[in-house]
Amino acid sequence: MSKKLLLKNAHIEGIRYFETYRKHGGYEAAEKALKMTTDEVLEEVKISGLRGRGGAGFPTGMKWSFLAKPEGVPRHLVVNADESEPGTFKDRYLMEFLPHLLIEGMLISSYCLGSNVSYIYIRGEYSWIPDILEEAIEEAKAAGFLGKNILGTGFDLEIYVQRGGGAYICGEETALLESLEGRRGNPRLKPPFPAVKGLWERPTVVNNVESIAAVVPIIDITGAEYAKIGVGRSTGTKLISACGNINKPGVYEIDMTITVEEFIYSDEYCGGIPNGKKLKACIPGGSSVPIVPANLLLKTINGEPRYMNYESLADGGFATGTMMGSGGFIVLDEDQCVVNHTMTLARFYNHESCGQCTPCREGTGWMYKILKKIENGQGKMEDIDLLWDIQRKIEGNTICPLGDAAAWPVAAAIRHFRDEFEWHVNNPELSQTQNYGIANY
Ligand code: NAI
Ligand code: SF4
Repeated sequence: MSKKLLLKNAHIEGIRYFETYRKHGGYEAAEKALKMTTDEVLEEVKISGLRGRGGAGFPTGMKWSFLAKPEGVPRHLVVNADESEPGTFKDRYLMEFLPHLLIEGMLISSYCLGSNVSYIYIRGEYSWIPDILEEAIEEAKAAGFLGKNILGTGFDLEIYVQRGGGAYICGEETALLESLEGRRGNPRLKPPFPAVKGLWERPTVVNNVESIAAVVPIIDITGAEYAKIGVGRSTGTKLISACGNINKPGVYEIDMTITVEEFIYSDEYCGGIPNGKKLKACIPGGSSVPIVPANLLLKTINGEPRYMNYESLADGGFATGTMMGSGGFIVLDEDQCVVNHTMTLARFYNHESCGQCTPCREGTGWMYKILKKIENGQGKMEDIDLLWDIQRKIEGNTICPLGDAAAWPVAAAIRHFRDEFEWHVNNPELSQTQNYGIANY
């Protein structure tokens, strides 16, 4: 059974409220941190090996140490709660059921970074959660954990919750900052990174909800103990939101030592695939990472078991980097049609493109149109090659990663499931009435 750090108290009734959270050890890590120097807190986070939980997996301690500290210029912590990656709903769970864990993590992190005004930017669709967060902020303030001169240390902190307008692109950190400043959420060119020039051109750390919540157990048990959990550079625990064709969709905390097979089939996690269906593929880290066929998902190309961690999910056979992504684990059974699925994603990325760069603005539209044509049984063989060519021209040629995120699912679908695309071309009538999965298994 995986060790629980973040969700260990999630089952306790009323844990959402300050009194219950405090009764179960809440804010003890903050008390401990505020007695340490800011350098000591930073060192614990570095030693823990914590990697950003939003998707990129960038080492959190390293990011914090990049924060510029020009004399007299305020710094900010901004929590990215714009969780919009299809298949990803773990931050929603944390904020809804454990809001004080996030507030406590923000207190420790803001203290370490020297931020006296910190923000939570939350996606507009999570319309009921800002009230939960604001209530928790008020409770923490009333108890002396926010506001002026916290616990007599001289450290001041105000936290504000900002609701997004419902655009996926505002989850990209620089678009988020633009939106927070009151402008249209268009991504900025990086560098400069927000750590140097962020909110209102001030040094800013933007971190995911889960990353900031994880700072609480790191201070609680120490960075060294945290680093012992997990394996290699995949330290600590990770929240996974599992959905699709599984018996037990939900949010699970894993310690990154379990295999993908165990995660899908064991009763402790996803509980297997309904109706005895076979596993076809999975998107292990939210829709911005490529689809992985069952044979590569359960075993590496060397025949070793595939583990639920950054390294194992990056090893061989994939188009790019790690597949851990945002922890949105989407399972497809044998009845699903990869062409249909890829078309749905292409429509999503086309709709969410901010339109600043031509390859993304035009390319996502073309990919959607061609996929729709193939899916409807009106495609030609050369359309598959055209699709391949378009995704190649998007990847690496855009301002922000949305372009890559739109290209990778298409590339992986063609690479691993070309037969399904060809079936649609060769069976125009059938493909109008049936999907590939149901027709072929
Ligand atoms: P990134 O790799 O560009 O940056 C990661 C973080 O490290 C950023 O905060 C960046 O500012 C910082 N960083 C990197 N190099 C730095 C340097 N030299 N100096 C200072 N800071 C530096 O990746 P990005 O764009 O932040 O995230 C992309 C990922 O987001 C994708 O892999 C995808 O999985 C995930 N994603 C998650 C979503 C969600 O809802 N959770 C939605 C969409 C994408
Ligand atoms: Fe906008 Fe797409 Fe360019 Fe990102 S890649 S800046 S979403 S057009």
